[in-house]
Amino acid sequence: MVVVGFPGSGKSTYLQSIGAHPISTDSVRLLLADDATDQSINARVFAAARYLVQQRLELRRPVTYLDATNLTRRDRRTWLELARAHDARVEALWFDVPLAVCKARNARRTRVVPEYVLDLMAARAIPPSLEEGFDEIKKCPPPSK
Ligand SMILES: Nc1ncnc2c1ncn2[C@@H]1O[C@H](COP(=O)(O)OP(=O)(O)O)[C@@H](O)[C@H]1O
Ligand SMILES: [Mg+2]
Repeated sequence: MVVVGFPGSGKSTYLQSIGAHPISTDSVRLLLADDATDQSINARVFAAARYLVQQRLELRRPVTYLDATNLTRRDRRTWLELARAHDARVEALWFDVPLAVCKARNARRTRVVPEYVLDLMAARAIPPSLEEGFDEIKKCPPPSK
């Protein structure tokens, strides 16, 4: 499961609520640099996250959650290719939450992402699609009836 959403969209909260043990780039930052916000070591963070996902795929774990923003196709391609190389089904879990809501939640938490960073992310964000290789796109929260 490739989780997609802005900071503050509720990705980590949801994954915790379902008792998942996601591979989270923020957790890897904490492991490597004692700081979940350190963006200066992203190459190592993503290499380590990729290695962990690969280990889970080789172990044939039934579900692997990758918790990162994954807002662009380029961000997601790594995970799609890795899953495909292991013949794994790959779904996007898309936190389709309005930017204003994410900003408000972000402002209220301890680890605040600067608002201009959220605006930059929003400008680059592309919704996940079947066309880029996902087997399914699941919206979270699910569309209301
Ligand atoms: N469904 C929700 N409704 C209201 N607040 C939420 C919801 N999900 C998360 N939050 C709050 O929003 C903030 C960001 O959530 P978090 O799960 O850390 O987002 P992300 O991992 O996507 O950055 C947290 O303070 C959290 O308590
Ligand atoms: Mg998070």
